[in-house]
Amino acid sequence: MPLAGFRSLMSAFATGVAVVTTLGADGLPYGLTCTSLASVTASPPILSVCLTTRGETLRALRDRGTFAVNLLHERGQRAAEIFAAPVADRFAEVGWEPTPTAGLPRLTDDAFATAECRVSRLLDVGDHTMVLGMVTEVVQMPATPLLYGGRRFAAWPDGPIPQPDPAAEAASLPSSFRGSPC
Ligand SMILES: Cc1cc2nc3c(=O)[nH]c(=O)nc-3n(C[C@H](O)[C@H](O)[C@H](O)COP(=O)(O)O)c2cc1C
Repeated sequence: MPLAGFRSLMSAFATGVAVVTTLGADGLPYGLTCTSLASVTASPPILSVCLTTRGETLRALRDRGTFAVNLLHERGQRAAEIFAAPVADRFAEVGWEPTPTAGLPRLTDDAFATAECRVSRLLDVGDHTMVLGMVTEVVQMPATPLLYGGRRFAAWPDGPIPQPDPAAEAASLPSSFRGSPC
């Protein structure tokens, strides 16, 4: 399969946009724009991200053993571009604060949800490393998510996604959705 065909296929798979952050052993924040986020299992609550093996963020994440996933809202495109570009100090360009529990960087202006994760497994695959993270804490607000597909950003067209009430959600889920972590 030629690489162009693979790239075309994956660019047609529209997703949300996240910024994965961590703290380095040097005490500095690191982060990158990430659309490879996926839910893996609900019990235990594990997600995956695939990060470029040569990148600075993965190196810091390996050392730290914890990371945060910041989901961007519709006004977060600039942050997505900054965290994908060779900007000297990405965190100087955005609002952020350490999370109260793990002290991981939370994007205060551009993200509507932040999940703290503990690295549970790392799997090197070609030029990326698949990181499995156990979600230990979630902070979430109602918002319209930022999407990425066809190499373009767009806002989720249905408007804000409310903050779910976990008990009501589980009860109202159609049976065919019960095996899905989301
Ligand atoms: C929309 C978008 C999605 C991206 N998704 C990923 C991803 O899932 N994994 C990855 O390693 N890089 C992804 N990138 C590229 C990284 O953000 C980029 O290579 C970044 O500079 C890496 O930073 P680092 O050197 O700090 O690791 C994406 C870029 C964009 C614009």
